[in-house]
Amino acid sequence: MSINILCVGDLVGKAGRSVLAETLPGLIKEHDIELVVCNGENAAGGSGITPRIFDKLLKYGVDVVTLGDHCFRRSEILPTLNSADRLIRPANLPKSSPGKGWTVAMTKSGRHKVGVVSLLGQMNMGNSDSPWTAADEALDKLSQEASIRIVDFHAEATSEKIAMGWHCNGRASIVFGTHTHVPTADAGVLNKGTAFISDLGMTGPYDSILGRRKDRVLKFLTASLPQRFEMAVADTRMYALLVAVEPDSGMARSAELLCLRGKSVETPYDSDDKSPNKFKKNRQIGK
Ligand SMILES: [Fe+2]
Ligand SMILES: [Fe+2]
Repeated sequence: MSINILCVGDLVGKAGRSVLAETLPGLIKEHDIELVVCNGENAAGGSGITPRIFDKLLKYGVDVVTLGDHCFRRSEILPTLNSADRLIRPANLPKSSPGKGWTVAMTKSGRHKVGVVSLLGQMNMGNSDSPWTAADEALDKLSQEASIRIVDFHAEATSEKIAMGWHCNGRASIVFGTHTHVPTADAGVLNKGTAFISDLGMTGPYDSILGRRKDRVLKFLTASLPQRFEMAVADTRMYALLVAVEPDSGMARSAELLCLRGKSVETPYDSDDKSPNKFKKNRQIGK
């Protein structure tokens, strides 16, 4: 007997929130999903998350929200990071950072405990402590409470992400990669029972460059003209890894990447994104 767990990739802006709201409740019913983990680091205006958006994600059916390199971009989330038990930031940030790096959540049926840990890669990413020792410490602690354990490895390099899959093989139920916003075709179960994918891909507007308007990014790249990288609105898709896990052993039986399409949104922001002008100075094609 196995239970279904869903892992949703970087939720990007209003378009990402829209396709999640449109498709997630039905998907939960269709597959009797017991737990949903969603990376929310790009949920507010494409970078960061706010308390109001966090609450809405829980209402849509998300059980645990993970973050990444943009975890502290919206300062209004800092108190929630300290108080909420279903919102985690990378565990390998400095100990003095707000929030926590792992949590234990109950499944929707209330029958199983699931440990979730967020980790940040080191290749082409900002400074962080070793994700390898942080994974060891988190999985060791979580194993005392939960047989099902999930790792979100938010990293740039596929090599580093694949290495994390093998590092946690047999110790984590699921290791999924996030951050690059492009889904990979390597979903499967490793030989000791860990479901793995290098990157879930974004949940957001695919008529874009990693969620941002194509024309703005192209103008910046082709002419070196500073641009405001506004969010895109069309071809919304939710990519999510559906994993069957045997709850007693915590090991995965199958893993499949799903793609659900939603409606385009009319405008790139709404009041939940709050002050998109804040991103005028953003010169990176942020992930
Ligand atoms: Fe990221
Ligand atoms: Fe991202």
